[in-house]
Amino acid sequence: LASTEVDLSTVPVGQIVTVKWRGKPVFVRHRTAAEIKAAEDVPLSALPDPEPDAKRVQKPEWLVVIGVCTHLGCIPTGKEGEFDGWFCPCHGSVYDLSGRIRSGPAPTNLEVPPYAFIAENKIKIG
Ligand code: FES
Repeated sequence: LASTEVDLSTVPVGQIVTVKWRGKPVFVRHRTAAEIKAAEDVPLSALPDPEPDAKRVQKPEWLVVIGVCTHLGCIPTGKEGEFDGWFCPCHGSVYDLSGRIRSGPAPTNLEVPPYAFIAENKIKIG
């Protein structure tokens, strides 16, 4: 399938769902208010691949990222690691609540796929 639709109303606050898009996992995370604040409060100087949270989301409560570690392609585990974002079990890369790399060998942030809100509670990826 070239595109994947996700019904966000099925994803409770604080939860992550994984959907498939073009054969890859995509993580859709319904961030809590505290998680949004934590992601927004990180100084860019703390980031190996500096990107403000606001540039990575369309609505602060929804983070959508491709679930493929930018090191060698393993699938990171959600709500793990020092920043409660993702942890890659292969070589220990740690991602934050915006999917940004914070430590470990991965060179860049988890990629944000192209997507659009096609309804209040629905996105279309791709
Ligand atoms: Fe994720 Fe190496 S593939 S840290």
